[in-house]
Order: sequence, then C-alpha cells, then structure tokens
Amino acid sequence: MGRLENKVAIVTGAGQGLGRSTAQRFATEGAKVVVADLNQATAHDTVQAITSAGGEAVAVVGDVSNGQDAECLAATTLAKFGRIDILVNNAAIFGSGKHIAEIDEEAWDRVMRVNLKGPFLCSKYVIPPMRRQGGGSVVFVSSMSGVVGNELQADYNTSKHGLIGLARCLAQDCGGDGIRANVVCPTGMNTPMMARTPPENVAPYAAMTMFARFAEPAEVANAILFLASDEASYITAAVLMVDGGATAIQPSGRQLKEGAARFLRAAGQEDTRAPSKIR
Ligand SMILES: NC(=O)c1ccc[n+]([C@@H]2O[C@H](COP(=O)([O-])OP(=O)(O)OC[C@H]3O[C@@H](n4cnc5c(N)ncnc54)[C@H](O)[C@@H]3O)[C@@H](O)[C@H]2O)c1
Repeated sequence: MGRLENKVAIVTGAGQGLGRSTAQRFATEGAKVVVADLNQATAHDTVQAITSAGGEAVAVVGDVSNGQDAECLAATTLAKFGRIDILVNNAAIFGSGKHIAEIDEEAWDRVMRVNLKGPFLCSKYVIPPMRRQGGGSVVFVSSMSGVVGNELQADYNTSKHGLIGLARCLAQDCGGDGIRANVVCPTGMNTPMMARTPPENVAPYAAMTMFARFAEPAEVANAILFLASDEASYITAAVLMVDGGATAIQPSGRQLKEGAARFLRAAGQEDTRAPSKIR
C-alpha cells in the first residue's frame, strides 16, 4: 500500500520544478494526481512522466489567480475522480527583484495575485468537497523568504509571509471539518526558478545552510508528502522549515566563506579567493 493510496491530490504549478517532483512522488505513493499549471506543454509532460511510470494523472491548464480557473480546477477534479483529498498550493512567481521604493504597483499586484490570491482561491474551492468528505489536507509552499526579510524581495517575501497567515486561518476555520492546513518553507532548490540566477549570486544563500548546497526538489517533496498524508493527522497550522537549518543557525564568517567556496566548486565555478579547507 502506498502512503496516499485512494487519495486524490491537486498540485498547482506541477508542470516543472518542485510541483512536478511532488506530483510524481504522490503518484508513486498511489495518489491520483491532478497536474495544474498555466503551461499546457509542461503540464502534459508531467502527466506523461507519471503515466509512463504506471501512475494515474490528468492535466488541468489554468491560472490559479483567476477565480473561474480555480473553481474549474476543483470541479474538473471532482468530475474526473469524484473527490479531493489533498491540495498543494505550490504555483508561484518570483518578485521583481527591485528595491522596495522601485517596485511598481502593477508588479506588486501581480506577485500578490499569483502567490497569495491564487492559493486562497484554490483552497476556497476545494473546501466544500473536503467538508462533505469529512476532511482533507492543504499544504502551502511558502519559503525561507516567508519567515525572514531579504534584500530586494519585498513583493515576493510579503506574499510568502502571507501564506503562513492564510494557512493558519484555514486551519482555524476548517479544523472542525477535519481539514488540516500546513506550510513548508524551503530554502533555495535546484529548480528552473533557481537556474535563472547566476551561481555567484546565490552562493552566499547556499552557504547559510549547514550543507552548503540547495535542496533537491525531491527532498522538499518528501516533506510535502508527509504533511499531505494521514501520517500527519494531528499536525495542523504548522510551519515546517525545509531549509538545511538556515533560519535556525547563524553560521560563522569562516563557515559562510568556506560554504560559498564549496558551493561554487560544486557548480564548477572555482572561487580562488576562498580557503581550501572545507567544513
Ligand atoms: N526554487 C527555489 O529556490 C524556491 C525556494 C523557496 C521556495 N520556493 C517556492 O517553491 C514553489 C515552487 O518553486 P519552483 O522553483 O518549482 O518554481 P518554478 O518557477 O520552477 O515552477 C513554478 C510552476 O508554477 C507555474 N505557474 C506560475 N504561475 C502560475 C499561475 N498563475 N497559475 C498556474 N501555474 C502557475 C509555472 O508554469 C511553473 O510550472 C514556489 O511556491 C516557490 O515560491 C522556491
């Protein structure tokens, strides 16, 4: 028996990166998976990867920040599989990367719409069927940026902080219906979102983890799987850091320097200024 046998799960943003990894992991645990994404081609690739490995999945193309699309996502899932046990609110976009005083209103609204309103809408439309079934599990993918401030990330970080509030309120409003809501906060992950940034820019962040590396999406998917499954039946309103210790531990200057050098070496970009001894 898989850990999600007979469960129906929606994973948003499952066309690539963490969403794809989560959808694949869920399918190997026996879940029927709805691969929700804006991108039709990548959503179908994920479905193909799951079905060719013997799993069951369908793609639903839509924008999580659009109310009609979010409603349609829940309705299509019900029409296809008859129930909704799990929602993973994973789809998100990165912020504008600008100083707070330079972020324009439109860019701010776009980030809030996708990263915060999207998870609200997707949750809103799965709650009624979950209630009728007697329960369900909603997992929000926030970020280490959901609990700390980062330079030039006011829009992204605010949206990720907001998800923690949203999850806690959902847990409050729906706990009596047997619906749990939890949050995972990854640090950097090796996904297409991360690949868009040059290694030298992200090396200091990798150095803040105890492993001087970013997470593989599968490592974060394992945490999502646990919270989504019945194994976490007494866990709700929790925030699970999947950050290699980065937010709990303050590395020394030596650790930061050596960790960044180690990260760059692994990325094939030797930093000749760094000391050779590795922690
Ligand atoms: N990559 C990282 O380093 C990192 C670190 C911490 C947290 N996170 C969070 O993890 C999650 C996944 O990140 P990732 O790196 O896999 O991202 P990604 O950019 O690789 O993939 C995001 C997916 O979401 C989809 N998407 C975007 N907007 C959408 C919308 N409006 N409606 C439907 N689908 C939409 C995209 O098409 C894409 O398939 C995000 O919530 C992100 O904020 C990522």
